[in-house]
Amino acid sequence: MRKIIIDTDTATDDAIAIIMALKNRNFDVKAITTIAGNVDLDLATINALYTCELCNKNIPVYKGENAPLNRKLETSKFFHGKDGLGDTGPYYPSFQCKNENAVDKIISLINDNPDEIEIIGIGPLTNIAKVLTKDPTVKNKIKKLYVMGGIGEGKGNITEHAEFNFWVDPDAADMVLNSGIEVHMVAWDTTQIYGYLDKDNFDELENIGTSISKFAIDIQQRGLEYYKVKYKEHKIDLADPLAMAVMIDDSKTEYKRCFINVILDGEERGKDLVKFSKNGNIKLASKIDRSKFLNILKKSLV
Ligand code: RIB
Ligand code: CA
Repeated sequence: MRKIIIDTDTATDDAIAIIMALKNRNFDVKAITTIAGNVDLDLATINALYTCELCNKNIPVYKGENAPLNRKLETSKFFHGKDGLGDTGPYYPSFQCKNENAVDKIISLINDNPDEIEIIGIGPLTNIAKVLTKDPTVKNKIKKLYVMGGIGEGKGNITEHAEFNFWVDPDAADMVLNSGIEVHMVAWDTTQIYGYLDKDNFDELENIGTSISKFAIDIQQRGLEYYKVKYKEHKIDLADPLAMAVMIDDSKTEYKRCFINVILDGEERGKDLVKFSKNGNIKLASKIDRSKFLNILKKSLV
């Protein structure tokens, strides 16, 4: 079994990524750690707890940082809704989060399971940056680190220059990407090519007909409306589920090695500057098998 930590700002796409992990027989999800991003920390935590309850998996959930390292929190409620789940709530999960802080829990899990813990960061990287600052030794004990973030070789989504997770906390992103850890990174560019759902894909999800598939569809409706108005398209890009699918099985994923620095301020705040090099510590996903992603997604919603 793979020992997994999911670090998430739980909103409409994170929730599906969490479901994919909880439904994966090879995953032993040791902890879900929450971070402020799409919504504030309390809502991200409630959404993570509710998602676990929906899957009937009482995974330990730990609260992390309630703001970026060096700036105020700016959420994406304009897209994910006030509750972060497409305004389909409010949700009152019976599951409770743990008292221990997420940063401390991540550190202890890594130290207690050297070279076994795989982490996926699907929100701003504030918690992970704090982990590396508080105990620098853990960077040599993490088995794998996957990150959803950055624009890669494409354009931004929160601004034309930057992707949301890196824009919210560019300091944390720059710190993690330059910590020396090898990072498997799924950026917004590949999300738009391989990670979207269109009307036909939603029709297939409708046919699954379970409470989990209905939840997954319902929480996307607000985002679909946003895409229809802004882009005149019936589609939505699911960044975190694509990153989770890569974590689950990247046998057909192609990567390009690179170094990445993140612009911290100004008009290009959060922009990842990619410098391709065979010595790079970042493995930037450049090709992802879309049919594999869709199959993993559909199997997870049964
Ligand atoms: O830019 C996409 C990322 O920002 C995803 O993680 C989504 O959940 C939002 O956090
Ligand atoms: Ca997210």
